[in-house]
Amino acid sequence: MNETRRSILKALAEGPVSGPELADRLDISRAAIWKQIDGLRDDGFEIESGSDGYELVDVTAYTGSTVEYGLEAPFSVEYHESIGSTNARARELATEGASNMAVLADEQTGGRGRLERAWSAPSGGVWVSVVTRPEITPAQAPLYTLAASVAMARSIREAGVDARIKWPNDVVIPVGEDGDYQKLAGILTEMEGETDRVEWIIVGMGINANIDAESLPEGATTIRDEAGDVDRRLFVQRVLEEFDAYRNDLEAVVPAWRELALTLGQRVRIERAAGDIVGEAVDVTSSGALVIETEEGEKTVSAGDCEHL
Ligand code: BTN
Repeated sequence: MNETRRSILKALAEGPVSGPELADRLDISRAAIWKQIDGLRDDGFEIESGSDGYELVDVTAYTGSTVEYGLEAPFSVEYHESIGSTNARARELATEGASNMAVLADEQTGGRGRLERAWSAPSGGVWVSVVTRPEITPAQAPLYTLAASVAMARSIREAGVDARIKWPNDVVIPVGEDGDYQKLAGILTEMEGETDRVEWIIVGMGINANIDAESLPEGATTIRDEAGDVDRRLFVQRVLEEFDAYRNDLEAVVPAWRELALTLGQRVRIERAAGDIVGEAVDVTSSGALVIETEEGEKTVSAGDCEHL
């Protein structure tokens, strides 16, 4: 959002202000002010014009500009009503050199999940892919994914849902006491780099927000079904702010992850190309790998599909 827009919104939020006064304050023409007000209205800001002037009365729309407005994290936001996959769009932007950008969509028609799976992403969810160019090594990259799972789980918890994390990065709600769960959110991370340097990372976060669970595949649940709808604008702002805080404090990620983990203490099976590992999940390492107590002793796995047994 450019400076002029930001200043106009600030003035309109503080109370009624006339067009001429705004033009004076910002040192631009009255015609330019009208144009800006029209543009803001088109972008979903509710601006009333009364005898005292213009006033910002509400911000309920879910658009790139409304999500940027009041966002306390340095991301610019590109919004699509409908798109194939926000990760695919984020990849285009990353290869063009973008950084600190969030691609947001109301609906994805070709949402992508981990392990080449499809990801169902109807209208009403929160589908967002963040492009960053961090100064980290590829070995630290999994911490970015864990940071995103912590960010999503904490934001979902604020919405009144008992969200927990299933290793490595699914956000789930526990069902019963046996480690069973239903999935609320997932992450698809993509990365480009060399052996000792990351060029860019895309963290694609998918949260089943204001959707009926019955329209999703079996085993999935939604914030709507668990606690009622969220204001997606405020909700995605929280997710982006939490993600920003944790990516800037990578040492805090694993302790926060541990606090929310559903997997620790569970008997698990990790499916890997190199062979399955079965045992009790006892800890995560400082880089987010899972430590499993097996019959042959302790084993550490950094990737794989995890099943709670
Ligand atoms: C998974 O659990 O398999 C990961 C799902 C990731 C889905 C998100 S939705 C936003 C972003 N765009 C995509 O196409 N995928 C990710």
